[in-house]
Amino acid sequence: MNNPLPDAELPALQLSDVRLTLNSMAGPVDILTGIDLTVGAGQTVALTGPSGSGKSSLLMVAAGLEKPTSGKVLVGGTDITRMGEDAAAKFRLGRVGIVFQSFHLIPTMTALENVAVPLELMGLADAFDRAERELRAVGLILRTDHYPGQLSGGEQQRVALARALATGPQITALFRRTHRQPGQRHRQRHRRPDLRAERRTRRNPVPGHP
Ligand SMILES: Nc1ncnc2c1ncn2[C@@H]1O[C@H](COP(=O)(O)OP(=O)(O)OP(=O)(O)O)[C@@H](O)[C@H]1O
Ligand SMILES: [Mg+2]
Repeated sequence: MNNPLPDAELPALQLSDVRLTLNSMAGPVDILTGIDLTVGAGQTVALTGPSGSGKSSLLMVAAGLEKPTSGKVLVGGTDITRMGEDAAAKFRLGRVGIVFQSFHLIPTMTALENVAVPLELMGLADAFDRAERELRAVGLILRTDHYPGQLSGGEQQRVALARALATGPQITALFRRTHRQPGQRHRQRHRRPDLRAERRTRRNPVPGHP
């Protein structure tokens, strides 16, 4: 996060004074209280912290899945907090890749069909060719016709990753579970990151979708 950005390049992601307050039965809960974060091209950022500290909430806001109560979220210079739900979904389609903690694969579709979904939504004629290339890239070319239930946990995760990267997104958000090693309970410095927000340099742009 300390790498200086080249002058000409807009940050991939910029959060300014982001606040999130949600209401519960017990009253309002201040979850994010003024977050400033800039992520440049090609940077990888890991958000770490105790359970309940707001990592998933921050990632939801950064990926445009949750609107902040106040503040700005700029993806490639565009403020996504001002968009309506439909416009935000359209904007996310080619620009934001998301790998959920429980993957959210569609159980009635094969690995290939799952990866092809966002590409078909983008109206790409070669959706299935691209999906196949992405599955090859994650080492699953021999599993293209397997349904999620016929894949191991790690393989399901790789399908979800292939689906997130297939559109050549500007931002990839990964939700990860906390893993604690035996004997490392409650020792903050040994906690592994359970969430990572990653900005990738676009290496596989989709024509017509800047
Ligand atoms: N809909 C909601 N309404 C009120 N409070 C909520 C809501 N969703 C989450 N919270 C609270 O917001 C806080 C942050 O939750 P969040 O899921 O972002 O934490 P986290 O850092 O990802 O935790 P973990 O490491 O356990 O996944 C928690 O204290 C949670 O109880
Ligand atoms: Mg979480």
